[in-house]
Parts: sequence; structure tokens; C-alpha cells
Amino acid sequence: MAQLQNSAKLVAMISGANRGIGLAIARQLSRQGYALSLGIRRPEDFDAVRTFGTAEAITVFAYEATDPQAGQRWLEATVQQFGQLDVLVNSAGILRKVSLADGLESDLDAMMEVNVKGPFRLIQAALPVLRQSGRGRVVNIASLSGKRVRNDNVGYQMSKFALMALSHAVRAAAWDDGVRALALCPGFVKTDMALGASALPPEGMTSPEDLARLVGLIVELPNTASISELLVNCSYEVML
Ligand SMILES: NC(=O)c1ccc[n+]([C@@H]2O[C@H](COP(=O)([O-])OP(=O)(O)OC[C@H]3O[C@@H](n4cnc5c(N)ncnc54)[C@H](OP(=O)(O)O)[C@@H]3O)[C@@H](O)[C@H]2O)c1
Repeated sequence: MAQLQNSAKLVAMISGANRGIGLAIARQLSRQGYALSLGIRRPEDFDAVRTFGTAEAITVFAYEATDPQAGQRWLEATVQQFGQLDVLVNSAGILRKVSLADGLESDLDAMMEVNVKGPFRLIQAALPVLRQSGRGRVVNIASLSGKRVRNDNVGYQMSKFALMALSHAVRAAAWDDGVRALALCPGFVKTDMALGASALPPEGMTSPEDLARLVGLIVELPNTASISELLVNCSYEVML
């Protein structure tokens, strides 16, 4: 696997890494030997040693998705710390209920800000450094709600469809420099977000650890085995 010379490890930036899917991916990539740059809202509340069993090669930075400068700041701090970037995972996200019947535009704005503009800004900041990797990877935690319109939460669906477009735009823009982008599209995942939003029992949902295993595999695949979208069901639905 190609590596830059100034670091022994490949480096991954992960947003929303303090809990849920982001944390599971962080644990998985740490086990796979990646150095981690974790973007979380309140770094002062996060204990890397308690969470990972070690703080070695793990650095936590402040990242608030609604702050337009936060992505650039976090990227610069990461490059200063590690000298390179190989994987960017956009996992920070929110779910608000916005239907056509009674959805609030302020809730729609909040989801577009965190679920779309946050990743857009991070990708804009990170792409030049990911291109230098020669095997840069962008993983966007989208959703099956970015693939089909199945319930009346059109606001969340709009934000995830937009993230799908962003993911495909990354592939087009940076393919020739070895950057590969994955839009990961799960259904319900056993995290705080879904536990408050679904009638499914937790044991019927996809586990964040299983998603993390998929991400761990896909980021390691060579540039010639790119997976652009991965749809993950926890319960049966027609997919064709
Ligand atoms: N759970 C599901 O069923 C499911 C299904 C499909 C897709 N997804 C997507 O997967 C991603 C991760 O979701 P999850 O299930 O892990 O949710 P979660 O457990 O609710 O975690 C959400 C994460 O996003 C962070 N976050 C929220 N607002 C933020 C902001 N303004 N700035 C920076 N970070 C912010 C949270 O930080 P704090 O702790 O500071 O709030 C937390 O780390 C989301 O994009 C979600 O839409 C989830």
C-alpha cells in the first residue's frame, strides 16, 4: 500500500467520532493501524484512552459542522500533526423530522448545514491533501434515505440525496489522482439516532460495528476496486 514518507501510518480524519457510527469506524481503523484525527464538538469531554484503550496516534480536534471555518481549521491541524491525510470519513449528521405537511424550514436548514455543507466544506479543504496520498479515500455516511423516498421525512431525504451527489462529484473530480469515494447507505443502525426514530427493536437494526467492518475493508481495497455506493439493509425491502 502506498504511503508518504513522513509518517509511518496512514491517517484518517473522522467527523462525529465521539459516538455512533463515527466512533465504531474510528475503533475499526485504529485496530487496522491508522493514525486518527477525530473531529468532535467538545474535545474536552472526550477521553481517548478510556475510549480506545490508548491515546497513541489518536488526536482529537474541535469540529462543529455549522461553523463554516471549522473544516479548514481541522484539516490544517491534522496536516500539521500528521503530515498527510489518506482517509476522510464524514459521519457527523443529524435527523430532524421535516414532512411536506408540517416540516419547518429551520429544521431543513439545520440538516442541510450539518449533513451536506459540513461534508462539502471538509471535502473542499481535504481534497488537495488526499490527492497527494495517491490512494485517498472519502467515506460519506449517507443513508438508504439518499436512495429512495420511503417515508414522509422529505427533509432528511433531501439532505442525503444531496450527500450522494457530493460523493459522486468527489469520484469525478479526483479519480485521476487516486481518490476513491464511497457513499455508505444503511437503513436503521443501532445508535442514538435510530433508537429515537424507529419502531424496530435495537436487535433488528444493523450494528455500527458491522458497518465499520465494511468501511475498514473498502478503504483498503486498491484503486482498481472502487465501490461507489454500498446499500446495507437491516430488514427486507425491494431493492430493484
Ligand atoms: N443511525 C441510523 O439509523 C443511520 C442510518 C443511516 C444513516 N445514518 C447517518 O450516519 C451518520 C452517523 O449517525 P449516527 O447513527 O452515528 O448518529 P448519532 O449516534 O446520533 O451520532 C451523531 C454524531 O454526529 C455528531 N454531530 C451532530 N451534529 C453535529 C454538528 N453540528 N457538528 C459536528 N458534529 C455533529 C454528533 O456529535 P455530538 O455527540 O456532539 O452530538 C455525533 O458524534 C449520520 O450522518 C446519519 O445521518 C444513520
